[in-house]
Amino acid sequence: MPALWGGRFTEDTDALMWAFNASISVDQRMALVDIWGSQAYARAIQKASVLTENELTKLVSGLDVVADEFEQGTFALADKDEDIHTAVERRLGEIIGPLAGKLHTGRSRNDQVATDVRLYMLEALGHLSEMLDATCKTIVDKAAEHIDVLMPGYTHMQPAQPVRFSHWLMSYFWMLDRDRERLADLTKRVSCCPLGAGALAGNAYGIDRQALAKDLGFDDITWNSMDAVADRDMIIECLSWGAQIGLHLSRLAEDIIIWSTREFGFVHLSDRYSTGSSIMPQKKNPDSMELVRGKTGRLLANLIQIMAVCKGIPSTYDKDLQEDKEALFDTLDTLGMLLPITAGVVATMTIDADKMAAALSDELIATDIADYLVKKGLPFREAHGIVGRLVLLSEDKGVGLCSLSLEDYRSTCELFEADVQGVLSFEASVEARDTAGGTARSAVLEQITEARKRLAQ
Ligand code: ARG
Repeated sequence: MPALWGGRFTEDTDALMWAFNASISVDQRMALVDIWGSQAYARAIQKASVLTENELTKLVSGLDVVADEFEQGTFALADKDEDIHTAVERRLGEIIGPLAGKLHTGRSRNDQVATDVRLYMLEALGHLSEMLDATCKTIVDKAAEHIDVLMPGYTHMQPAQPVRFSHWLMSYFWMLDRDRERLADLTKRVSCCPLGAGALAGNAYGIDRQALAKDLGFDDITWNSMDAVADRDMIIECLSWGAQIGLHLSRLAEDIIIWSTREFGFVHLSDRYSTGSSIMPQKKNPDSMELVRGKTGRLLANLIQIMAVCKGIPSTYDKDLQEDKEALFDTLDTLGMLLPITAGVVATMTIDADKMAAALSDELIATDIADYLVKKGLPFREAHGIVGRLVLLSEDKGVGLCSLSLEDYRSTCELFEADVQGVLSFEASVEARDTAGGTARSAVLEQITEARKRLAQ
């Protein structure tokens, strides 16, 4: 059987060219949205008097049969099914006869594929949105559960200041919360219906595009037919969003990997999210988190891939654009794994508060000692220098900052008095930072409350 577009051709397509051109292996997952789009389009052209009521009924129920076949897994692909659009139309013809040939009146695969992709994205983004919310909720719950656990905070991977474990974990909530905002924002631009744009120049049959868009659940229509078939920036935005989520999750994964080492031992991954070694019996590896980190590579690559395809191609549809879907689907699929896996790891990992406490070393409160001097009236720069000398002294004496005597303290600065004891604790250090966004218990509880409010919206 010749291709659906074969009328003006006198020679068969080269076999390799056929395989090169066909996209069915990639786009068949859009079967159901393609069928919904066709049913809505049939309703639109019926209202525009292209079809009789009876023809519409036959087309829609014929398409229902095709949809059933896809849902049951009985749809049989034919050798000449070039893409999902031609496959559905071919099968519809087998079921209802030549009437199937009226469905494509005024429509092009160019507006059809753009519509299908958007419908598919809206479905998939709906699921991912739920997964993203669930991951955020897991993070908040875990943070609330361990609100009182202290640990060293790091910059440059060097111990810096004491923080709450919950505060560290909540930092990832806020990253992912921005990804939630990005998703809501980009969804507005995905939710525009291109159907009725035709190949590039619009629809000559007087269809009501607003009604058609509404029928398909879109918020709006695309307002320029040439843009409608050319536009792939909704995919670029989506893949950028996906890459951003990957970047966030990969950093969380890296923290968890480091902290689950023997050397740190701050957290222990559940067996459910770890795997063993085929040779070393003692090993329990954090593969879940390593794969989250590793798979972020493909999320970045997918974004670059689609941008590279779109760069500089002439306006409207070019076949290059068929290359948009593999990257899109791969990102959607990958996120569909990364989010629940990450949530599972966080929910099931155990926290070793003793190990974290043991890692809290005296030098972490050096800044608090400087703050003490500032409160006694010293400019911060001077205080910084004095505490630096105090650190040297403690190193000389081989004792921690908290174990130096008051005389030692006073030898570096007369402003030290007995009340300096009050700042020489990790608890005092985290509690001192009680402004919004800080480490004090009240401040962390405040951000947890704010986070829960956002998740409930
Ligand atoms: N399989 C094509 C794609 O995914 C459908 C659109 C084909 N349009 C065309 N004019 N050949 O982009």
